[in-house]
Amino acid sequence: MDRPAAMTRTRLAASILLTWLLGGCTDLQSAISPAGEQAGQLFSLLQLMTWVCGIIYALVLVFLGWTIVRVWKRASADEAPLVDPADRGLSRSMLVWGALIVGGLTLLITASFLTDRHLASLPSKEVLRVRVTGHQWWWRIAYRDPATGRWIETANELHLPSGRTTRVELGSSDVIHSFWVPNVAGKLDVIPGRANSLDLTPHRIGWFRGQCAEFCGAQHAHMAFDVKVESPADFTRWLAAQARAAAPSTDPVSARGAAIVTKGACAMCHAVRGTPAAGRPGPDLTHVGSRRSIAAGTLTMSRGALQGWIANPKALKPGTTMPAVPLDGADANAVAAYLESLK
Ligand code: CUA
Repeated sequence: MDRPAAMTRTRLAASILLTWLLGGCTDLQSAISPAGEQAGQLFSLLQLMTWVCGIIYALVLVFLGWTIVRVWKRASADEAPLVDPADRGLSRSMLVWGALIVGGLTLLITASFLTDRHLASLPSKEVLRVRVTGHQWWWRIAYRDPATGRWIETANELHLPSGRTTRVELGSSDVIHSFWVPNVAGKLDVIPGRANSLDLTPHRIGWFRGQCAEFCGAQHAHMAFDVKVESPADFTRWLAAQARAAAPSTDPVSARGAAIVTKGACAMCHAVRGTPAAGRPGPDLTHVGSRRSIAAGTLTMSRGALQGWIANPKALKPGTTMPAVPLDGADANAVAAYLESLK
């Protein structure tokens, strides 16, 4: 083998190994970095399963190696084969192996059953209810306004108060999706025509990432959402801000954008509370500028990202139902400025 080819292979192997090792370094979306009661229970079960399966696997490898060495030594010494049907030691060792396997499986099944029961019986008084609806490919999220009792809509960003249980009521408008915030809880299918619900009790404050976990079409991978776990006081403030209608635009550029968004084509699909825009098919934009990302976790929120998304959504997310909106440069800038101002 020539040296450049060998070096390329070494580099390739090193980069694969590094990617594999570093891939686990982020704990933004990780089931092995639990930040909630339910995820903690599941992580304990995972650890038990890893230990039990790991020990049995190691035992199998040790005995396999030992047998291979014995057979090889006897063959080279021209001795008779090891397996003798009348050998009582063989029957005994088969019994021990059988007992180990049955015992290990019984332990895992019992632990799995008990974890499931425990998760189902977690105290759920003072539950906050949130409706989450899966769409190809984004999440509609609705909170009940404690002041008025009305539903407040947002999209692709779930806020959870720390130390409280939030019950997420799941629905789908089209195909089967799966709701998963690995740091906080297990995953649950989101099925059209069926009401599923999942309890989340986070206890670590911070940002996390949720992801659709069931293949649901071309942009399944771009069906993510941001999750913010915050103190109950911060959560109450956030909810009160989300409940408010959009503030009127003060600067001329945003005002121009407001006129285009709320009276033009955008209003057919999007709502901006407090304006004539009341479209239902797409995400509510009342406070879109306060969100961390756009297009279901596809792009980080910025004026440039908004402008790029509006100009050619199908280039960024092929298959999306969002059409390109033909706008000249000044109008596109005004629309992006307006949307960014909707905090
Ligand atoms: Cu929705 Cu995958």
